[in-house]
Amino acid sequence: MGASIKNLLFKLISLSFTVVIFIGSAYADEKSDLDPGKIFKTNCATCHTIGKGVVVGPDLKDFHTRQTLDWTLSWVKSSSTVIRSGDDYAVALFDEYNRVEMPDQNLSEEEITAVYNFIKEESAKVVEAPVAVVAAGDDGSAMMYLTIIALVLLVVLFVLNNVATTLNNLINEKQGNEVDARGEVQRMFASLAANKTVVTIVIIGVLLFGMNKGIQALSNLGIQHGYAPEQPINFPHDKHAGDMKIDCKYCHSGAEKSKTAGIPSANVCMNCHNVIKKDSPEIQKLYNYVENNIPIQWVKVHNLPDHVYFNHSQHVNIGGIECEHCHGKVEEMKVVRKDKAITMGFCIDCHRETAVKFEENNYYHEAAFADLHEQLKNGEIDMVTVNDIGGTECQKCHY
Ligand code: HEC
Ligand code: HEC
Ligand code: HEC
Ligand code: HEC
Ligand code: HEC
Ligand code: HEC
Repeated sequence: MGASIKNLLFKLISLSFTVVIFIGSAYADEKSDLDPGKIFKTNCATCHTIGKGVVVGPDLKDFHTRQTLDWTLSWVKSSSTVIRSGDDYAVALFDEYNRVEMPDQNLSEEEITAVYNFIKEESAKVVEAPVAVVAAGDDGSAMMYLTIIALVLLVVLFVLNNVATTLNNLINEKQGNEVDARGEVQRMFASLAANKTVVTIVIIGVLLFGMNKGIQALSNLGIQHGYAPEQPINFPHDKHAGDMKIDCKYCHSGAEKSKTAGIPSANVCMNCHNVIKKDSPEIQKLYNYVENNIPIQWVKVHNLPDHVYFNHSQHVNIGGIECEHCHGKVEEMKVVRKDKAITMGFCIDCHRETAVKFEENNYYHEAAFADLHEQLKNGEIDMVTVNDIGGTECQKCHY
């Protein structure tokens, strides 16, 4: 009798234990997907604060008392549309802020709603104490509560196990059977290990947890593909190369003429920013560099090992290859990132498949290429690939 009470207790408790772990991991995942604090920090905090005063745009403290969620959805997606529609509030605001247009935010309604609520919550906190605006979200405390619940369950499991064993012993004593004299902890682990349901549930729990973590770790590995370091100034390629359509080579002029594409000096930026967006905190950083004559220490995104030779002009100018081929759609990136894993295989695959401009390029009229011209003429080959001119020989790419 005692044994079956114990069994039932174990099943119940270990089941609720697993359920808590399950909900916990699901909850944590959901949190990391939609983190309004993070969205606010990356998308809005350059221009707005919550309770710390005006930057480029208004202080958003208590904004929920000024406008509805519906209005905010339209505004954040495209403020210019709302202004053009003649909305009084929007027009007045636009004039008040020196007719600086708030850029369209590429966010879903769900995300904007979350940010709207985040601003409301943070505003409430400002009243209590003027604390930091962009708290890193509260997913930490949620995990903490779940851990506490799990610990409490563990203690309950322990106590109940003791009660069950004591009952068992009482019954055994009455019936004149042998009494279990092992220490409490020892006894508990022994009976846990003997209970098949507990063992199965624990194993499944551990496996699920391990799988979840393992997949996360694997997806973070990669060959630094997607690497997007934080830069000294948040220079947005999407605005300059995308919205404004400034040619890549206006800033990376080396790409056409030399081995390296190069990063523009602050003077190039000042061509425009001596008048544009003067009050933006990011542009203030730019002025600081210029006035103090300090070079901006941009963090390298791409970095081939020293033993590899790569030449931009050979590819961009002579080969006629678009930047996008190797760097992805930089004009859509807010923060420039390594879009492709630039491995040896990446270079060689392209050299095997890509034709050189064999007829057009005078260089290839040299005697060394006579054989290839012959083969083209008599139809043995229909194009000359980089491979054909030796582009997969080790010493072409390695010092
Ligand atoms: C480049 C600067 C900039 C960024 C980034 C920016 N805003 Fe704005 N925002 C402004 C300016 C400037 C105004 C004032 C209206 C105007 O001039 O068009 C404004 C106005 C607003 C208003 C109306 C405030 C009021 O008091 O009525 C809200 C709400 C708002 N922004 C939300 C956001 C959110 C949410 C984000 C991030 C997803 C964001 N903004 C990102 C510049 C910006
Ligand atoms: C207005 C100037 C400007 C324009 C236009 C511009 N860039 Fe940039 N680019 C920069 C600056 C500044 C950096 C360094 C800061 C950074 O990494 O965000 C940079 C960095 C890069 C990097 C990373 C360099 C590294 O460290 O490996 C790549 C790749 C790049 N740009 C490609 C492009 C491409 C492709 C275009 C055109 C679609 C383009 N850029 C247009 C200014 C510009
Ligand atoms: C051809 C003119 C031009 C050049 C050159 C230029 N910018 Fe800009 N930049 C702009 C304009 C216009 C905006 C405003 C875009 C908007 O808000 O939609 C801007 C926006 C920015 C912003 C965002 C500011 C904010 O608060 O929203 C940063 C940061 C910036 N530029 C940095 C740079 C740096 C660094 C360079 C030099 C590598 C540079 N820019 C070169 C025209 C230029
Ligand atoms: C065939 C591939 C390829 C093409 C095409 C290409 N790049 Fe690159 N780019 C690279 C590689 C590889 C590196 C890393 C070089 C290194 O670390 O030595 C790089 C580095 C850069 C850098 C960092 C600074 C530097 O010069 O090392 C910038 C900026 C850049 N590229 C811009 C451009 C632009 C702009 C274009 C188009 C006009 C372009 N690239 C076309 C492969 C390419
Ligand atoms: C998108 C295709 C493509 C990619 C990717 C590419 N290349 Fe090339 N590469 C070419 C073309 C096309 C040429 C020939 C240009 C010409 O006509 O001289 C070339 C030529 C070369 C040459 C000169 C070969 C010779 O025989 O003179 C070297 C060296 C080279 N590439 C190195 C690299 C390295 C290193 C990488 C990887 C970081 C790389 N390439 C990635 C297309 C590519
Ligand atoms: C088209 C250019 C190209 C050719 C041809 C080429 N390599 Fe490479 N190789 C690279 C690049 C780029 C890297 C760097 C890859 C990276 O950083 O992941 C590299 C890396 C290496 C490495 C170092 C691996 C590492 O982990 O850093 C070795 C070894 C190597 N290559 C050997 C060779 C040999 C041997 C040949 C001739 C059979 C050869 N390569 C031909 C472009 C080339």
